Amino acid sequence: MSESSRHDSWQAGANYDAYMGRWSRRVAPRFLDWLEAPEGGDWLDVGCGTGSLSAAILGQSAPRSVTGVDASEGFVVHAASKTDDPRVRFRRGDAQKLDVPAESFDAAVSGLVLNFVPGRSAMLREMARVVRPGGRLGFFVWDYPGGGVRFMREFWRAASALDPAAQDLTEDKRFPDCTEARLRDLAVRVWGMEVESTALVIDTRFADFTDYWTPFTLGAGPAPGYCAALPPDRREALRRKLESDLPAEPDGGIALTARAWAVKAVKSS
Ligand SMILES: C[S@@+](CC[C@H](N)C(=O)[O-])C[C@H]1O[C@@H](n2cnc3c(N)ncnc32)[C@H](O)[C@@H]1O
Repeated sequence: MSESSRHDSWQAGANYDAYMGRWSRRVAPRFLDWLEAPEGGDWLDVGCGTGSLSAAILGQSAPRSVTGVDASEGFVVHAASKTDDPRVRFRRGDAQKLDVPAESFDAAVSGLVLNFVPGRSAMLREMARVVRPGGRLGFFVWDYPGGGVRFMREFWRAASALDPAAQDLTEDKRFPDCTEARLRDLAVRVWGMEVESTALVIDTRFADFTDYWTPFTLGAGPAPGYCAALPPDRREALRRKLESDLPAEPDGGIALTARAWAVKAVKSS
């Protein structure tokens, strides 16, 4: 495991939800609106995590079934505990080698996963394999290289000012391929289909500094993993720096935005 990926801690579902699930839940419906998949059908959510995208599919796409697959046992258990909808099931699996028959879904989608998977081409190839001709393929990831995720960017800016070694852990360094052009190129190359892409921008407003800071202390995800591993005095120095650096509104709220790039295609018949 590399030093940078050591902090990619994906186990505690509630902590993930406090840090990232609260925002992936907001992007997912926007992504589905843009995907324009026909209602109904069987859906696969690759890297479902705690179930944000699956919940949005259930809420707005009238699916016949939703299968969520994720590498983390803790996340799939957490996702399953949040719903009693009989149309959805969650299970452990590897995005690079999906344990499902070819052409068995009408849509294969994925949110905030591709950059974390070592075999990105393999993941996209698998998504295309399991979708029926005429079915939908789509994914989104944060715009890390463009600084699109302000709450992370601010965190790492402060962390790097106090600890130069943190610069090598930032998502913009680790995931330089998360640009619209590179994501499109990858999808075209692997899928061999025409693709469309777009930016999805959401407001990420924190009620106050505590609302911003607490999720970073919980350890779920790269930046929280770094934060939680700091000795107490260095974590406190980082907390103070962020509290003084972040732009607060008169009521204490911290209003930031986050941008994701989304790519979609219709599988050739
Ligand atoms: C940032 S989370 C996104 C979770 C969820 N899709 C969401 O939008 O909130 C990244 C997810 O990718 C999963 N993941 C990473 N590598 C994977 C792989 N090879 N196969 C399946 N899931 C993987 C992690 O376990 C984690 O749940």
